[in-house]
Amino acid sequence: MTQKIIIDTDPGQDDAVAILLALASPELEVLGITAVAGNVPLALTERNARMICELAKRPDIPVFAGCAEPLKRKLVTAENVHGKSGLDGPDLPLPTMPLQDHHAVDFIIETLRQEPVNSVILCPLGPLTNIASALMRAPEIAGRIQQIVLMGGAYFEVGNITPAAEFNIYVDPEAAEIVLKSGVPIVMMPLDVTHQALTTRRRIDAFCAIGRPVADVVAELTGFFERHDMQKYGSEGAPLHDPCVIAFLLQPELFQGRHVNVEVETTSALTLGMTVADWWRVTDRKANATFIGSLDADGFYRLLTERIARL
Ligand code: BDR
Ligand code: CA
Repeated sequence: MTQKIIIDTDPGQDDAVAILLALASPELEVLGITAVAGNVPLALTERNARMICELAKRPDIPVFAGCAEPLKRKLVTAENVHGKSGLDGPDLPLPTMPLQDHHAVDFIIETLRQEPVNSVILCPLGPLTNIASALMRAPEIAGRIQQIVLMGGAYFEVGNITPAAEFNIYVDPEAAEIVLKSGVPIVMMPLDVTHQALTTRRRIDAFCAIGRPVADVVAELTGFFERHDMQKYGSEGAPLHDPCVIAFLLQPELFQGRHVNVEVETTSALTLGMTVADWWRVTDRKANATFIGSLDADGFYRLLTERIARL
């Protein structure tokens, strides 16, 4: 049986690799891709999502545009990391497949109402605006979602957009709070784990060695992303954040985490968007998320390379 998923995303080079990993994996059925504003504005994220579907020769995947602004704040973007297009690096053709007419939030709600209870996993790879909007508008869907496996947050690694906050959560902290308090089973891929999934030269060379057009694009996407982060962190390679979400669905044994309480700061100007994980279980606050702390990075790249080679 295949696992049904909805990918909610703001591509983004690492989002693009996550989408490709999902589309290359027969265990997963991608019911739709919902775009949200984040790394770049919505007009670019929905366009980029369609470009990636076409790259994977899957123009049949429905792509929906969602929220253009966070729930209560002005949009913060990350062109400094992802380039002006959000997908800088390779030279990809503009998409010809259409954008769906429906709003992404309506698609999420309708799909969860139609599909059997607990059969769909939501995979948010960007700010949580679309997911929180769906939960606010149709609270009963919370009881129908199998789980939410998301990229966002940080605890020991603290921030990448501010000293305290990770980008996806910082852009829409109110949305993150709604999701974290929804009661839906949640798995979080914070910077703590994604900073261990580094695109070293050897790993990018492995994509090139596949010798196929999609794999070459993955090498270019990861190579572009790398420049910024290597300079910032002084690390050997850049963290490949979002594919961790899809890899978790395919091989959860690659990851270790703890089921703990995670809350998000929504008021302090200094620490806005910080995710406070009770990793040491020093409070009696109820556990609401599995907060992932480590992964088998070589195993993760083995899986990713093997799957990308299928496209
Ligand atoms: C997250 O922010 C974006 O820049 C990436 O696509 C990833 O989802 C990492 O903080
Ligand atoms: Ca993303």
